[in-house]
Amino acid sequence: MTTRPEANPARGEARRGQPGAAPETPPHRGGNAPAGLPASFANAAAGRAVLLEVRGLTRRFGGNLAVAGIDFNVHAGELLALIGPNGAGKSTTFNMVNGQLAATAGSVRFGGREILGMPSHKVARLGVGRSFQIAATFASLTVLQNVQMALIAHQRRVFSFFGRADRHEPERAMALLEQVGMGHLAQQPCSGLAYGDVKRLELAMSLAGDPRLLLMDEPTAGMAPGERNALVALVKDIVRARNMGVLFTEHSMDVVFDHADRIIVLARGRLIAQGDPEGIRAHPEVRRVYFGSNEGLGHGVAAHGAAGRESDGREGGVHAGI
Ligand SMILES: Nc1ncnc2c1ncn2[C@@H]1O[C@H](COP(=O)(O)OP(=O)(O)OP(=O)(O)O)[C@@H](O)[C@H]1O
Ligand SMILES: [Mg+2]
Repeated sequence: MTTRPEANPARGEARRGQPGAAPETPPHRGGNAPAGLPASFANAAAGRAVLLEVRGLTRRFGGNLAVAGIDFNVHAGELLALIGPNGAGKSTTFNMVNGQLAATAGSVRFGGREILGMPSHKVARLGVGRSFQIAATFASLTVLQNVQMALIAHQRRVFSFFGRADRHEPERAMALLEQVGMGHLAQQPCSGLAYGDVKRLELAMSLAGDPRLLLMDEPTAGMAPGERNALVALVKDIVRARNMGVLFTEHSMDVVFDHADRIIVLARGRLIAQGDPEGIRAHPEVRRVYFGSNEGLGHGVAAHGAAGRESDGREGGVHAGI
């Protein structure tokens, strides 16, 4: 099943530094799945405002079509998983959406406004956040100070950057820490944190800019399976509490299927399916891509073949459950 809309007037060459001239418009209302998308897509998205509209997004690296004209939406209040085998084009997609990487073609509209071609800091200022990675230089600061630094960075208060972090909006920083369940660790130095707490702190920091959409490329990388589950559950709570959208990649299928509201599946740059977890679990092409077969698969079976992740040494791997 393909998921391409039948017509895409917005599709065209993306020119770096020359965003489309589309006027700023409010996000669309309703479960308006693009034409040609499966019913499960419309049902899962019903009633939610569209935050991000991706159409015909394409990236070539020489002869390699890394992302081949994909279409999807992200809605307010939804946790949307982008999954696919290694090299499927997930990170390339993230990097084009957040302005780090120029697209070869396509359109990305955020809140109705064309953002493709904008520099990443401008995209961030419009409300598209991304996972934060704590810089090694901040490791000696306390947990609270790190969040204060993130608040300063988002407010672009460059002059106070190194001088007065600990006086900067401590209540707001504390509220962010409490939102990720780390209020009790506020005065700990960051360097002594357990890895799972570092990841939660990074989440608090990525919320400092009050994003309406957060892009998280492998937020649980390096975490043990139980911690992955807890972090994504926390992200889902935050998505609901803030009515924000989150697009994330995750290699543990158990985590994806337990928490994602919807799932989009890339394989070799093509978007082969999108829908709710139930629809994706049963989708023949997804099963083929992940398992090389369309039969005999049950929940919890480790995946082999195209999507197998055993070889890269990361925990979790790709599991069945599709
Ligand atoms: N800067 C680059 N230059 C050339 N080719 C690239 C570059 N970045 C990505 N690619 C290629 O584009 C394709 C998609 O890569 P991408 O990193 O987006 O995959 P991914 O789905 O994020 O994979 P993974 O699950 O391993 O993170 C791959 O074939 C990759 O080799
Ligand atoms: Mg990647």
